[in-house]
Amino acid sequence: GTSLEPLPLQMGDRAMPHDPATPQDSLAVNSWNEWDPLEEMIVGSADNASFEPTEPGSRPAIRNRPETPFPTGPKSQEAVDLANEELAGLADLLRSQGVTVRRPGPHDFSAPVRTPDFEVENQYCAVCPRDVMITMGNEIIEATMSRRARYFEYQPYRKLVYEYWNSDPRVGWTTAPKPSMADGMYREEFWDWPLEKRHERMHSFEFCVHQDEVVFDAADISRLGRDILVQESMTTNRAGVHWLKRHLEPRGFRVHAVHFPLDFFPSHIDCTFVPVRPGLILTNPDRPLREGEEAMFLRNDWELVDVPEPVLGNHEMPQYCQSSKWLSMNVLSISPTKVVVEEQEKPLQDLMAKLDFEVFTVPFRNVFEYGGSLHCATWDVRRRGTREDYFP
Ligand code: NVA
Repeated sequence: GTSLEPLPLQMGDRAMPHDPATPQDSLAVNSWNEWDPLEEMIVGSADNASFEPTEPGSRPAIRNRPETPFPTGPKSQEAVDLANEELAGLADLLRSQGVTVRRPGPHDFSAPVRTPDFEVENQYCAVCPRDVMITMGNEIIEATMSRRARYFEYQPYRKLVYEYWNSDPRVGWTTAPKPSMADGMYREEFWDWPLEKRHERMHSFEFCVHQDEVVFDAADISRLGRDILVQESMTTNRAGVHWLKRHLEPRGFRVHAVHFPLDFFPSHIDCTFVPVRPGLILTNPDRPLREGEEAMFLRNDWELVDVPEPVLGNHEMPQYCQSSKWLSMNVLSISPTKVVVEEQEKPLQDLMAKLDFEVFTVPFRNVFEYGGSLHCATWDVRRRGTREDYFP
């Protein structure tokens, strides 16, 4: 018989931070939280973006004109150019701070998708790598995703993933199991529930996706060293939280499901609960954490600070934007003392300065149309630091 060489590392012993013989920081992929000093970043791109289609997991609507049908097919070149200009501005700012910036590869988002279980007329975009890709220490995880149009959204990042994976044998790479996204995976009537019903059901955390299949978007996850928060939402179900628990806990993480009962359409945690340095989380005054879930923070003397009202109201957001005014708080940490805030969000900039941050600003309003701001439009591959236990 043939004898195989043993692998240099077994699953689970991969370069753990408490092994003093391993210089954790020197790995090609290394990011354990949302704030450590940034070294390498993927910044999204609006190239070839399309409008998100109507599908069982998503009912896009034009802001202030819900009766008018939502556009379909490719975005205008003008909308693409305006967003790309702002994304390039963020890339320049990060480079000026010594960060290596990489961009996604080309992808035709106007192409339809057909699998044995569903068909969808077009895909979406690569503006928000945060939604699909996440660095969990020295491992890259590709999320399952929750919507049909986003099924193949990992593809523009694959060339980069192969590069990181080939460059360093200590780099892990996991793709989460793809759900069927068949009709039966979705609870379509969710979209028609009246407000009273949403109110009544706010503690059940049941949204447009059933619980049978593993479903999560990476942007529902927030990393705080050994502790990982996962928001149960329209885009992440309990099976998704369980998969993350069973994948991450044997690797030494602790996974905590978190809930924001007053958000009736929750998706992605980074406009709701945003850690910016050890001991400090920005919170959304409209979306308090479920009672009891704040205990781990308070017990460890973490401060939860409500952000000020955004400069734009919900009705003033770009007409095709499907996210709320709270994109204001979707800030990006360059380090525990340096933060990037959208250029027009002066009240939040002032708060961050008062909290002793050096505040950088870039214009980003044209990116809002794609549903995200500074944190959404990025994926950090390397931050200098190791896995700390902030909640002993
Ligand atoms: N669903 C969030 C946006 C997350 C980027 C919101 O609309 O506030």
